[in-house]
Amino acid sequence: MAAKDDLPNGVSRRNFLKSTGVASVAATIIAPAAGLAAQSGAREVGPGEVPVRLNVNGRQLDLMIEPRVTLLDALRMRADLTGNKRGCDRGACGACTMIVDGRTVYSCSTLAIDVQGKQIRNVDGLASGGRLHPVQQAFCDKDALMCGFCTPGFVMASVGLLEQHPNPTPEQIRKGLDGNICRCGTFPRIFEAVSSVKGVQRG
Ligand code: FES
Ligand code: FES
Repeated sequence: MAAKDDLPNGVSRRNFLKSTGVASVAATIIAPAAGLAAQSGAREVGPGEVPVRLNVNGRQLDLMIEPRVTLLDALRMRADLTGNKRGCDRGACGACTMIVDGRTVYSCSTLAIDVQGKQIRNVDGLASGGRLHPVQQAFCDKDALMCGFCTPGFVMASVGLLEQHPNPTPEQIRKGLDGNICRCGTFPRIFEAVSSVKGVQRG
């Protein structure tokens, strides 16, 4: 039996009011945003999949992904480049650190669509010709890892640091790695490894 406040079509008044309220709030929020995009000449994309072209480790990568997909997910889930890990997924641990146009970024907090046309490097592309990058080698030589989950992010942060400061001071190392966390507590060995690396060239 229909409740007394049901509308003739069987939709309850409470649900009808709820849905129209949500719709009007959504319209209030979305309409100005769409208007702003139109005014600025920005092209609206999504929410469905769109073509995204990335340059990763010197190779062109053509993907079909939703605009909301992060760089980390695009590489891990769509390109099988799983070297960098997802720790916190909110820009707090550094496990996902990659280098974009020479600057380290949290790839979990960077949209893939926003880094089109840029040079992206992740840990999968560091070794070449069967040889580890000097930073990777130093982490091995100094035994600078335990579980290893944070290591790809630390390695990329260290590469970014050493490309800017080939002979970093302890303070520069601390600052360069301060966005990365190692829950196993290998910081002293990581610092030792980074201090031992010489002659890193800009990538
Ligand atoms: S996974 Fe990106 S900062 Fe933690
Ligand atoms: S080696 Fe385990 S979190 Fe760093």
